[in-house]
Amino acid sequence: MSTSVNVAELKNELTELIEAANDLESLEETRVKVLGKKGRLTDVMKTLGGMDPETRKEMGQALNVLKNDITETLEQRTKRLKDEALKARLENEKADITLSTRPERQGHLHPITQTMDEIAAIFAEMGFTLEEGPDIEDDFHNFTALNFPQGHPAREMHDTFYLPDDPTAEGEAAKKLLRTHTSTVQIRSMLKRKPPLKVLAMGRTYRSDYDMTHTPMFHQCEGLVIDKNTHMGHLKGCLLEFAKKFFEVDELPMQFRPSFFPFTEPSAEVDIGCSRKDGGLTIGAGDSWLEVLGCGMVHPNVIKNCGLDPDEYQGFAFGLGIERLAMLKFGIPDLRTFFEGDVRWIDHYGFNPVERL
Ligand code: DAH
Repeated sequence: MSTSVNVAELKNELTELIEAANDLESLEETRVKVLGKKGRLTDVMKTLGGMDPETRKEMGQALNVLKNDITETLEQRTKRLKDEALKARLENEKADITLSTRPERQGHLHPITQTMDEIAAIFAEMGFTLEEGPDIEDDFHNFTALNFPQGHPAREMHDTFYLPDDPTAEGEAAKKLLRTHTSTVQIRSMLKRKPPLKVLAMGRTYRSDYDMTHTPMFHQCEGLVIDKNTHMGHLKGCLLEFAKKFFEVDELPMQFRPSFFPFTEPSAEVDIGCSRKDGGLTIGAGDSWLEVLGCGMVHPNVIKNCGLDPDEYQGFAFGLGIERLAMLKFGIPDLRTFFEGDVRWIDHYGFNPVERL
């Protein structure tokens, strides 16, 4: 066994090995060959035990310095190779955004997306902000807080998809379900923020139902305004303004028919004027009515359930079906086609993403 090692020579040898590695993979192999359990430097260090104490001390120190140097060289080489690899990737993945589009590969926006964007733009102009809630909800947010008493028949009207109970939660929060309406976001907004509130929520809703006019998943839009003096006149003004802008008509008759929802009092269904001729439908002043949404003044119990004082705060809410509005505005006859994913359908009813709004 040699009692001494030429450290300078060893350093040259190891540095050359490291510099010779041209990619990260071979550099890792080199690292193992040098510093690994059976690596070159490790082997040399093992010989320290056989040296006389004086030499061992000297060589020990020298080898430790060498080990630090080599580790440093390895790190630098790694960084260099990583930088080079990144540079090469950036070069390769360059996209020429000045290339003109390829019409045969032009995609379309789904009418639901287009409708949601149009609705959001109109309400944003009126000062509403967008709010979100989860698709997977619980009994509290979907029913109880919205003033559906336990065992109330309206709970069954919704044909709810229930999910297995959540073992980490208790009571109504454990009873999981797919939200049956976006009214859940009314509760979430009031629990999260203090009035004045002017919020809009849009998204997927679910009910176990399937025919010409029902799909198990559909989209709703919900509005909520809460303040100290908000009244039904504000509700009417807001909905009329929205309907006129959305359907692009200046004169639009609108009527409020008394209705029932557990979370509003009074409640109403809203119809807009239309005319039907030769199987066609035109929105605007005419001889007929078309139901478009549900609304009402938020029930004092709902306000209370969200920790607010109904003697201080009041407001209105409304909910509408996004597919229904899209079908009316764009003349799409069958609801089920929205979710069939037929490319010919989207080519026909979809929107150009560049020329939207
Ligand atoms: N959540 C109701 C539904 O799904 C729609 C609705 C009606 C929402 C009246 C409202 C409202 O906010 O005030 O049928």
